[in-house]
Amino acid sequence: MENCNVVILGAGAAGLMAGIEAARRGRSVRVLDHARAPGEKIRISGGGRCNFTNRLLTRSNATERFISQNPRFALSALSRFTPSDFIARIEAAGIAWHEKHLGQLFCDGKATQIVDLLVRELRGAGGALHLQTTIEAVRRADEGFIVDTSQGPIAAQAVVVATGGKSIPKMGATGLGYDIARSFGLDIVETRPGLVPLAFAEQDLARTAPLAGLARPARVSHGKTRFDEDLLFTHRGLSGPAILQISSYWREGDAISIDLMPGADIAALLAEQRGQAGRQALHNALARHMPEKLAQFLVAEAGLEGRLADQSNKALARLADQTHRWQVRPVGSEGYRTAEVTLGGVSTRELDAKTMEVRRVPGLYFIGEVVDVTGWLGGYNFQWAWASGWAAGQAV
Ligand code: FDA
Repeated sequence: MENCNVVILGAGAAGLMAGIEAARRGRSVRVLDHARAPGEKIRISGGGRCNFTNRLLTRSNATERFISQNPRFALSALSRFTPSDFIARIEAAGIAWHEKHLGQLFCDGKATQIVDLLVRELRGAGGALHLQTTIEAVRRADEGFIVDTSQGPIAAQAVVVATGGKSIPKMGATGLGYDIARSFGLDIVETRPGLVPLAFAEQDLARTAPLAGLARPARVSHGKTRFDEDLLFTHRGLSGPAILQISSYWREGDAISIDLMPGADIAALLAEQRGQAGRQALHNALARHMPEKLAQFLVAEAGLEGRLADQSNKALARLADQTHRWQVRPVGSEGYRTAEVTLGGVSTRELDAKTMEVRRVPGLYFIGEVVDVTGWLGGYNFQWAWASGWAAGQAV
């Protein structure tokens, strides 16, 4: 039987990082993946340019920007392998990058540069990558574990599960990591799609259909959580960064509140216009501040019609409510088919925050998205993958 120190399940962002670090420490490492190519999600991320980290992540804002039953769990790994550490690696490899808004860092060229770098570093450190290898089971052996695969069993002292979440099954995502956790009796926080477009019911869609394709800067709120980002009307409901962000907090049955003109006071603006150009239709007056289709939609939703001059202050207040506090109740999300991440996962209570090792099963580790740690949109999820992979790589 093949024998090594460490078997890593999953050659994604977290698994490759853990493999590099373990191999650099002199461990014999095999990274297994059923896909044809490693790092497929890195390749397609960020529109092909990979938003590989976020420069604005700090120890003090991390508990807000990562969602988990225990948001403090991620702090140890995140503060030992920081965005600057990852930037230093890609700069050393000559990979050019740039910052977009909100601290989001992207490659100037293709995301595959990052995949190539990780594979090069893994092999350079002596680690082996076994692709197109199906993992059947992980079982305990007298010393360590046996991983049953389509290429035969492999014995290892340590196993690192880095199989990611359930998002985008078409790209090879499976629930394997959760199955392995269950087979060892570990607690799993219920999983659900995150960073995902939200869908409207038929009757709401009928009213918003003319707006499909329209993008607006918006403030989207769910309880005390809010995001100021772009919102996109779609043929199914709503998308765009503001909606993806709030989707990670939204639960079925909840309403979200949308301000379609953040920072403005539409009632005051229209009251002022009423004195100067009251003869124009209300929707035309509103259309001075936003696309015409959206103005027509909001006026209709507020149940108003006619000229601006005919609108009472109460009517303008109703229109302002519709514009600044539009209440929407999505019926669902687009699900794992399009979700960027999976919320929930292996409970952090099961893991040592410094090493990612399962407390009750020495030698077994979980890293990356399969763990109940999910970041905001904007490079946070890759940073968690790098940091948790790095932490496990120091310990295995
Ligand atoms: P990841 O999913 O990367 O890797 C898991 C690996 O395990 C895969 O290679 C898979 O093939 C393998 N595997 C799964 N099941 C297996 C099985 N049964 N047998 C063998 N192998 C198996 N994040 C971010 O920070 N910035 C961004 O720009 C983006 N953009 C983005 C776009 C899109 C379209 C998606 C879907 C996601 C993002 N993300 C993102 C999220 C980010 O991709 C994600 O959080 C990380 O890839 C998670 O890294 P992991 O290594 O944990 O899993």
